[in-house]
Amino acid sequence: MIVSLRGVEKTFPNGVRALDQIDLDIAQGEFVTLLGPSGCGKSTLLRLIAGLLPPTAGRIEVGDSPDEVIPPGVPIPPGVPIPPGEAIRPGAAIRPGVAIRPGVPIPPGVPIPPGEAIPPGEAIRRGEAIRRGAASRPGKDGTRVAFVFQHPTLMPWGSVLRNVRLPLDLAGTPRADADRRVAAALELVRLSEFARAYPRELSGGMQMRASIARALVTQPRLLLMDEPFGALDEITRNRLDRDIHELWHRQRLTVVFVTHSIYEAAFLSTRVLVMSPRPGRILRELSIDEPHPRTDALRVSERFAARCAQLSALLAGQQ
Ligand SMILES: Nc1ncnc2c1ncn2[C@@H]1O[C@H](COP(=O)(O)OP(=O)(O)OP(=O)(O)O)[C@@H](O)[C@H]1O
Ligand SMILES: [Mg+2]
Repeated sequence: MIVSLRGVEKTFPNGVRALDQIDLDIAQGEFVTLLGPSGCGKSTLLRLIAGLLPPTAGRIEVGDSPDEVIPPGVPIPPGVPIPPGEAIRPGAAIRPGVAIRPGVPIPPGVPIPPGEAIPPGEAIRRGEAIRRGAASRPGKDGTRVAFVFQHPTLMPWGSVLRNVRLPLDLAGTPRADADRRVAAALELVRLSEFARAYPRELSGGMQMRASIARALVTQPRLLLMDEPFGALDEITRNRLDRDIHELWHRQRLTVVFVTHSIYEAAFLSTRVLVMSPRPGRILRELSIDEPHPRTDALRVSERFAARCAQLSALLAGQQ
């Protein structure tokens, strides 16, 4: 499991009890949506998972389970943390920036030349293969977590490129490496042509895409999104929903997504969690077994309408 919550509660210092007894497991590769009425604690739950807030009670684990080790001989993609104690066998290729010199604990952020291999049986210790910082926190075993807020929160005085590079600049990533990763992230959100533009020169949807690129540049394995498209018109929102689903699929991300919208939840998710009004609890869930890609044709299909009706009934049952 990449996220595991047991008996989690959150009461704010002013006495507001936002969350009550949350038990939740999220597996690698899921697209899980939190759906619930305003004030039921969706943002609070996301912030707890991100480590931005401490729980009042319960246990939260974010990281890879021991059975998600990298099989021997498989090249390790850049930025993927190596599980604690995992031994890399002969010939495992190390790509730029990832690991490691035999026997020597490598400080985070030290790039290693391409093709460098780890000798037979060499063990990698926890955290060694993690790049320094980025604006996301490593969970257990160095799983990187990135957060996308409802508003793009871009620096108005910086170009798109500067904004997207910010987490890498803060982490002290060498410039050439950072610029390469920024270019890749901008391409993923189809903003390459606007790298030199300023936020005021972008539409709302493009600003959100820049904000998503800023999250992706940290190469997260877990992407937390709090109503990222809530402020956008429906056409833009539908397009970004398609885009984010495609990104999730291509980048093999795990996404936890918050929305008020039944339609958005039904379109995007592999699993929808329906929350009760405050104090928030997860009352019901609906798995959505719909193949990728999800297209506009899905939105007008009967099974989509049926799922929306089902989600609507589950929500109404909570009132
Ligand atoms: N820092 C805080 N201090 C006190 N109370 C808070 C704080 N943050 C949130 N709350 C309260 O906790 C409850 C849950 O808030 P939260 O923002 O998680 O709801 P939400 O489900 O995200 O709502 P919305 O859909 O409107 O964004 C609300 O009653 C809110 O007033
Ligand atoms: Mg919220």
